[in-house]
Amino acid sequence: MPVASPFVSEPAVGPGRDRQNAVYRAGALGRRPRVPTDPEGLERAARRATSKDAWAYVAGGAGAGATMRANRAAFDRWALVPRMLRDVSARDRSVSLFGRTLPTPLLVAPIGAAGLVRPGADVLIGRASAAVGVPYILSSQGSSPMEETVAAMEGVLAGAPRWYQLYWSTDETLVDSFIRRAEAAGAEALVVTLDTTMLGWRPQDLNRGSLPFARGIGIAQYTSDQRFWELVHERSGPAGRGPRPRPTAGAVRTLASMARELPGGFVANARAPLTRAAVETFLAIYSKPSLSWADLATLRARTRLPVLLKGILHPDDALRAADLGVDGILVSNHGGRQVDGAVAALDALVDVVAALGGADHRGMPVVLDSGVRSGADVVKALALGAAAVTVGRPHVYGLAVDGEAGVRAVLENLVAEVDLTLGLCGVSTVSDLGPELLRRV
Ligand SMILES: Cc1cc2nc3c(=O)[nH]c(=O)nc-3n(C[C@H](O)[C@H](O)[C@H](O)COP(=O)(O)O)c2cc1C
Repeated sequence: MPVASPFVSEPAVGPGRDRQNAVYRAGALGRRPRVPTDPEGLERAARRATSKDAWAYVAGGAGAGATMRANRAAFDRWALVPRMLRDVSARDRSVSLFGRTLPTPLLVAPIGAAGLVRPGADVLIGRASAAVGVPYILSSQGSSPMEETVAAMEGVLAGAPRWYQLYWSTDETLVDSFIRRAEAAGAEALVVTLDTTMLGWRPQDLNRGSLPFARGIGIAQYTSDQRFWELVHERSGPAGRGPRPRPTAGAVRTLASMARELPGGFVANARAPLTRAAVETFLAIYSKPSLSWADLATLRARTRLPVLLKGILHPDDALRAADLGVDGILVSNHGGRQVDGAVAALDALVDVVAALGGADHRGMPVVLDSGVRSGADVVKALALGAAAVTVGRPHVYGLAVDGEAGVRAVLENLVAEVDLTLGLCGVSTVSDLGPELLRRV
């Protein structure tokens, strides 16, 4: 017989109360959290910690920013209606996706060129995600080769969950190479981003004439790929001989940045004509404006991974994805970075879930991406039928404020707030969430 202990039957306090306790205990000793716990404070702190170019790239959006505002406004139009007296002492935040049980319904969204914010960004984000057990979706525009990021994640947690996000290049051999590398690196799903066949019109970057990729930041998946270098060599004649930038201070800075970012020594890179050719090759091949459903139909034979489509907004596209047999979708407007005046992601979620026939989505999990800032947002999205949500800009803001620890703090705060919001709404398990908890306001 096990010895009865007064603590054994003590209900677990859960991550919400754990986090509060940790913060308040430190506060009693005079220490305040480095990473603000509210979305606006976090954004302000990140802005202070970031260069103007990096801020323009991370916080900026398409056109006049209407889609970014719409993403937030959509959350505000739903109110939670908490229920009382339901014994919420034990709460289960876990969800199951593609055979893996996740501790929380969160994933870390793919972020390209985060190296603008901090050197080694992907490794820092990957380590923090692994520590919290949240899957990290590695970006095609990563700032470190995926193998390096994954090795760092493995150092924190063996088998740390990761997915890979693919931008479909015009070169099919490169597409296959990225898929093969992602499989070898232990990615558990492939997320194909559909909404970036061209870069959106982004005035914050345009007004500064600033594109990270043109400085060699965010092209590490390419420059670590043998097929990419074959393409560079094929193209390097014309690219290498193209008009040379006038040696202004800006041009020298750009070349120095490229030389730093590319594999190989800085001095050798700065001298090599291939340095510029690599960046120009990337700019020529990274996205495919002709991408169509026919391309996607070829994927099944090209990977054994579950395939998710990111960027679906129209219910008919969701239905078409289901007909094609994809394994999941991410309803997303890319954080308002692509089309100004687009539908809010949360509004699109409602339409997509209705079109797919309610909760089971024809067996296809629907993940909500874009605009999630708080635990309440997460709970609302799940109540409207999302299987999980992604955390985008907030984790980059955490990175800006405090590196790896900052990303971890943002994720832990979000998990804590989800936990408390669930309990305070009278809900013990994520599967109990439904539209009856919400009222349109
Ligand atoms: C700086 C930055 C870089 C991004 N890079 C990528 C990328 O490489 N691939 C991708 O699919 N989405 C990318 N996104 C979009 C995010 O994955 C996600 O859809 C978006 O951040 C969600 O909006 P939110 O951050 O406002 O919540 C990027 C977003 C930001 C802010």
